[in-house]
Amino acid sequence: MLEPEDAMKWRALRPDEFAFDFREGDEIVRFAQANRMKVRGHCLVWGRDNPAWLTQNRFAARQLSRLLHEHIVRVMKHYQNQVFAWDVVNEAVDENGNLRDSVWYNEPGIGFAGKGTAYIEKVFRWAHQADPHALLFYNEAEGEGLNRKSDAIYAMVKDFKRRRVPIDGVGLQMHIPILDVDIPAIAANIARLTALGLQVHITEIDVALPLRTPGSVRSEDLICQADVYRGIVRACLNSPKCTAIQTWGFTDKYSWIGSHSHHTRGAALLFDQAYQPKAAYRAVLEELSAGNPSRVDH
Ligand code: XIL
Repeated sequence: MLEPEDAMKWRALRPDEFAFDFREGDEIVRFAQANRMKVRGHCLVWGRDNPAWLTQNRFAARQLSRLLHEHIVRVMKHYQNQVFAWDVVNEAVDENGNLRDSVWYNEPGIGFAGKGTAYIEKVFRWAHQADPHALLFYNEAEGEGLNRKSDAIYAMVKDFKRRRVPIDGVGLQMHIPILDVDIPAIAANIARLTALGLQVHITEIDVALPLRTPGSVRSEDLICQADVYRGIVRACLNSPKCTAIQTWGFTDKYSWIGSHSHHTRGAALLFDQAYQPKAAYRAVLEELSAGNPSRVDH
């Protein structure tokens, strides 16, 4: 599976109010098809990585609603049958379980400011109309274990399922900044989400390590990192409805962790800067093939 990283975000697709630029996204899709890979779309609605023309307060709620609806329809129809699952809404909840302020929610929003998850419901309904066959995901950071954020997401998607709002799954990003990860809590969160009839995708996993000097990590950390990957992959494989595991990039050479952490952290992925597989790669491969080597698609 290939993830488009930044190529299908608003900032990439929308140079201005009237134009769409699908070139980068199309290149990803072409590569995926040539290599028999699936593509997960990311992301239709997010408070970040939007172009300045959109967020500079020029639009009233009615106009924003029209722009977002048009965006969802155009983008999903463009990638119909090519993108099998979409992160429809990304990172709408904060660490206390409250909705984040954003251009789509309340700045000024698409007409549902102060009305809780109503704007999220609206965009899932639009997305389902635009491409009834795509799987629709709510994707979130730091809500992988059990905490106030994951409780709020659970409450939202439970309510959506009860009222038949079209949602197929929850994406757990899994940008992991520590090495003592509470795997049972992650397994419990996956279990409660899938018990609602939803799929879970692990959408953006990386496990960032502290760097002593640029590029240099402790060998013990690489072993611990492998155990973290192993534990998360196992938690996913143990749940029949945890149906995808995706890293955010694949080589440490181009990972976002470096610039994101002012180069104090890095080495977060399965392949090192020279594209060589790391201990984490071997751990993931072992888990995927455990008891059934044919599960590993070479
Ligand atoms: C990151 C990209 O990797 C960077 O290139 C970009 O500058 C910022 O966004 N959660 C998400 C992703 O859902 O879209 C983010 O990607 C990482 C955190």
